[in-house]
Amino acid sequence: MIYEVIISTMNEDGSSHVAPMGVSQKADFVVLKPFKPSKTLDNILTQKTAVMNIVTDVRVFAGVVTGRSNFNLVALPCEKGFFLKDALSYLTLSLAEIHDDEVRSTLYMNKVDVIHLSSFKGFNRAQAAIIEASVLMSRLDLLSQDKIKQEIKYLEIAISKTAGKKEIQAWEWLMEKYENHCKENKKKIKLLVSIRSIEEVKVVNGLNIDIIDLKEPGNGPIGMLDFIDIKNIVLALRNNKFCGKISTTFELNDGNLSGADIAKIQNLALAGLDYIKVGVSADGNTWANLRKFAESLNKINNEVLENKLILVLMIADKRSFETVKNIPSSEVVKFSGIMIDTLNKESGSIFDIVNFTELSIIKKFALERNVKFGIAGSLDVSHTKLINQLQPNWVGYRGGVCLKKRSGPLSRTRLENLIDSYC
Ligand SMILES: Cc1cc2nc3c(=O)[nH]c(=O)nc-3n(C[C@H](O)[C@H](O)[C@H](O)COP(=O)(O)O)c2cc1C
Repeated sequence: MIYEVIISTMNEDGSSHVAPMGVSQKADFVVLKPFKPSKTLDNILTQKTAVMNIVTDVRVFAGVVTGRSNFNLVALPCEKGFFLKDALSYLTLSLAEIHDDEVRSTLYMNKVDVIHLSSFKGFNRAQAAIIEASVLMSRLDLLSQDKIKQEIKYLEIAISKTAGKKEIQAWEWLMEKYENHCKENKKKIKLLVSIRSIEEVKVVNGLNIDIIDLKEPGNGPIGMLDFIDIKNIVLALRNNKFCGKISTTFELNDGNLSGADIAKIQNLALAGLDYIKVGVSADGNTWANLRKFAESLNKINNEVLENKLILVLMIADKRSFETVKNIPSSEVVKFSGIMIDTLNKESGSIFDIVNFTELSIIKKFALERNVKFGIAGSLDVSHTKLINQLQPNWVGYRGGVCLKKRSGPLSRTRLENLIDSYC
């Protein structure tokens, strides 16, 4: 059986350290199992002592997890440690034995003294809920958002029915931490959603989308829209007070830009687009085409394009991903970002073609060159956990937020679910 307690230890400089820990009893020993690295473990190894506080003021659990440290501690008479003033009881412990492994140590502690300060008043469901929520909040990066949300919803029942002031305060600390985590996550990964028309401007109205991308999915994977439609959608978005970024994609064929192509790119930048994605299929010709593209760009005054160009590498299979893996640095620095997308929208998501490790390598390559990194390609809400682990700068959606397939109508409900899945 495991009991959740507060272990207080003494740092080398004589100050206190407090940590929630699960402890068990084996023969006459109290057994602690700190994961490495752990300040508690270091202190016990140095001082050979610890104090086990049995508390029902769960603010200590929530407080530690949310980064608070102003606990009401009292020095032990021997001055070799501290106990919590509001503990029901505390036990002074001394280190008897240690079993070590790479991940966690098992510490066998002798009970030196047991001091009772006040009586146990009975079980309280809200206190148990705070302990559970504290565990959740200490594992935010390891659990899926869905699981965290479901559990919070369930634990909230005990809080609303049985909490006192202390439990409510502890709950507020934990929920504040959760909200901040959500905001951080949202800030880090920018959501890009492709829309095709003025009608779809209404569907995205007021949603927390960072980049609205303009494309006609019916026109293939790159889906260039007519310039006049782009202009009208940009106007409609800004009239609707959309204050995120707006992008569209320019399809690069062999890299030789005609006068009309150059005029189109310049006009896109002047029409109020924040990003112009340059879409190329990743194959044997990619880098030669991009070199020609760079030469064509050099011929024009490209100040208007500064920081606006994003390279979109469309991959079909593992082989075309090999091309991406061999990106020459010189071809990348002209772009402010690289996105990896799929060429064939019927062959699964980007994660079905390229594995997590390979995507991480490309991300590392991009970030080391000061270039942002994004992914797209038949992504939907089921990929959020993987995406949260990968932490790209951008993630792009279309099919996964449409009613039927990617050329079907955009679904407000699916968009809301997607945004929710990031918290
Ligand atoms: C209820 C609860 C029980 C915990 N039990 C353990 C435990 O048995 N072992 C552990 O290493 N961390 C446990 N943790 C997490 C630690 O309290 C937390 O990581 C703390 O910072 C320990 O690291 P430290 O010794 O460096 O302070 C628990 C957290 C909570 C909220």
